[in-house]
Amino acid sequence: MDQLKALLVRHRVFLLIGLVTIVLGLIGGAIIGLAPPVTLILVLIVIGGSFFTLRGPGRQQTPRVLAQFALLTLVTLVIIQVVPYGRQHSNPSTRNEPAWATPETRDLMVRACFDCHSNEVTWPWYSSVAPLSWAVTRHVDEGRDEVNYSDFGIDDKDDDDTIEVIVDNEMPPGYYTAFGLHAAGTLTADEKTALLAGLRNTPGFVEEND
Ligand code: HEC
Repeated sequence: MDQLKALLVRHRVFLLIGLVTIVLGLIGGAIIGLAPPVTLILVLIVIGGSFFTLRGPGRQQTPRVLAQFALLTLVTLVIIQVVPYGRQHSNPSTRNEPAWATPETRDLMVRACFDCHSNEVTWPWYSSVAPLSWAVTRHVDEGRDEVNYSDFGIDDKDDDDTIEVIVDNEMPPGYYTAFGLHAAGTLTADEKTALLAGLRNTPGFVEEND
């Protein structure tokens, strides 16, 4: 017990910075929509790498530990660019779209939903930079899996609560429009009303009353 305490005290600077790194990492990961296990692995690489490369006298000094964490973060960011996942920006051809009630209905859906639920995804520059590329690819893969408005009614990629998620403000997800990203995807109250009216007049969209 005493030994553990001595160890904790001796490495307190490292532990504190490590803990802050974990918390900041998880918050950052959640904001960009990265899978939590992936965030954790990245953070642990930085912490573990810092621990093993911090040597010599003065290893408990805050500036040194901070510098080491910053360096390891940078090195990790460079190395993960070789991971192939996330670089395939596919847009298969459209097989079937809903018969939208009006052109405006389609336009609003394109602005707010097509970047994850269609075969007309606009891949931004940061979707080529890991780990953002992993997050974006995951959103599109999972989004298309749920409902794909370019493969509508094919392979079960159909309605799936479209009206409900708009009414409940669940879609588009918060990370999509965070930091002023995708301003066009943020619909005004009037646009939302118009979109819902359009969807209710588009065949294939069912609203469940609950
Ligand atoms: C940034 C990507 C992204 C955008 C933009 C987006 N979605 Fe999603 N959507 C997802 C992901 C990822 C899932 C699956 C995980 C989840 O449910 O959160 C999902 C799930 C869904 C589901 C199934 C959820 C359920 O509870 O049945 C529907 C329906 C849906 N989205 C509709 C929409 C609509 C309509 C829009 C536009 C108003 C939209 N989405 C915009 C990523 C996105």
